[in-house]
Amino acid sequence: MTTATESVELTRVGPGTVMGQLMREYWIPALMASELERGGAPVRLMLLGEKLIAFRDSEGRVGVMDHRCPHRGASLFLGRNEEGGIRCIYHGWKFDVSGRCLDMPNVQPQQDFKHKVSAKGYRTVERAGIVWVYMGARAEAPPLPGFEILDVPDGEVGALFIQRHCNYLQALEGDIDTSHFGFLHAGHVEAEELDKDDPIYHTVAIRAPEYHIADTDWGTTYAGHRAAGAGRTSWRFGNFMFPFWTQVPNGEFGQHVQVRGWVPLDDEHTMYCVLWWKRGLSAMNQSDPAYKDGAPIGGMGRRNDFLPNTTDWLGRWRLAANASNDWRMDRAAQHDGTIYSGIESIHLQDQAVTESMGAILDHSFEHLAPSDQMITRTRRRLLMAARALRDNRVPPPGSENVQVFRDARGGYFVADAGNRWQDAYARELATAARPAQGVLQAAK
Ligand code: FES
Ligand SMILES: [Fe+2]
Repeated sequence: MTTATESVELTRVGPGTVMGQLMREYWIPALMASELERGGAPVRLMLLGEKLIAFRDSEGRVGVMDHRCPHRGASLFLGRNEEGGIRCIYHGWKFDVSGRCLDMPNVQPQQDFKHKVSAKGYRTVERAGIVWVYMGARAEAPPLPGFEILDVPDGEVGALFIQRHCNYLQALEGDIDTSHFGFLHAGHVEAEELDKDDPIYHTVAIRAPEYHIADTDWGTTYAGHRAAGAGRTSWRFGNFMFPFWTQVPNGEFGQHVQVRGWVPLDDEHTMYCVLWWKRGLSAMNQSDPAYKDGAPIGGMGRRNDFLPNTTDWLGRWRLAANASNDWRMDRAAQHDGTIYSGIESIHLQDQAVTESMGAILDHSFEHLAPSDQMITRTRRRLLMAARALRDNRVPPPGSENVQVFRDARGGYFVADAGNRWQDAYARELATAARPAQGVLQAAK
């Protein structure tokens, strides 16, 4: 169980909090590169509870910094994106993308102290269509995380952001809470209605699988397994990766190059950021699931309807279906069994249940079951790493040694029964498409 104190430690991410410090040891996806136009208007950006602005200067370079001008605190969101930097509209001070003050035109040249003052700017890098930011204190930023997906050419990486109105932990834990799949998403689906090789066939044939769970170099891992006919086992592997990433088994293991980030905007808002290989066999690339007679399975659409982005701190990538309209729940579909949840898509179903818990669940409220061991273990791993950093300056997993992420995969496969789960994983990985080794093949 999780105590009320642990719950607070796990969920708060602002400056100076134990989990906030842990997260500042890593590169963080901040926004889509396409959100910033060269020389265009700055974007308000909330990250780890800090109010920031992001802009792209006249040279195409990206700046992410504290929104307050270091002179008298006017917001640089209002600033003029000029040649080589942003100029505060209050007294005209100008800053480059790193926050260095370039110009202080309201004081006499002999009194100018621009070399002594700077806006609080963070380091940025663009990769896979995403602007990444490093908000930590190290003089030298660590490398980007060694995810396989970051070895894929940028043009083959899909990226999607969706905001969720709840704490990052309850959002993230939806991805490692595998036993919900046969209920929330597929409670209305019977195995005999599906083709035997349908990816969710085994999930609905046996709704209470057995699990293996372990700590790994990258975080934690689980293997859900079920009997899959004579001498065969169905495996579904998923991972938690420090500090807020997951991999889920919604793709064929050998082709499933993907990461899902649950980026805390503040304690009560999270940006889901998924990166996937567009040519692999992943749910992100496939048509909507169907029964064996060809009829679409209700509640498994993949469309996301967004509200228009606004310039508010939390105005980006919000869904039109949300708490204010009960996530567009269709009670008739829930009642007649067309859709178990009554909610129209898998992502929205996850969004609804995690947002419905309230913005931050006090985790001491829960009654965790044996099916929640992955959640318990992941919380422990996060807490231990965060406390070791706070108390003994121990770098958390993957913050320096970014290669620990390289062998992390989530996915499903069916294999001969009788293998240890680690061996089944290693065998499947050995024959998988690996971008780092230059053997990435398109799905057939
Ligand atoms: S507050 Fe920005 S220049 Fe004065
Ligand atoms: Fe889910």
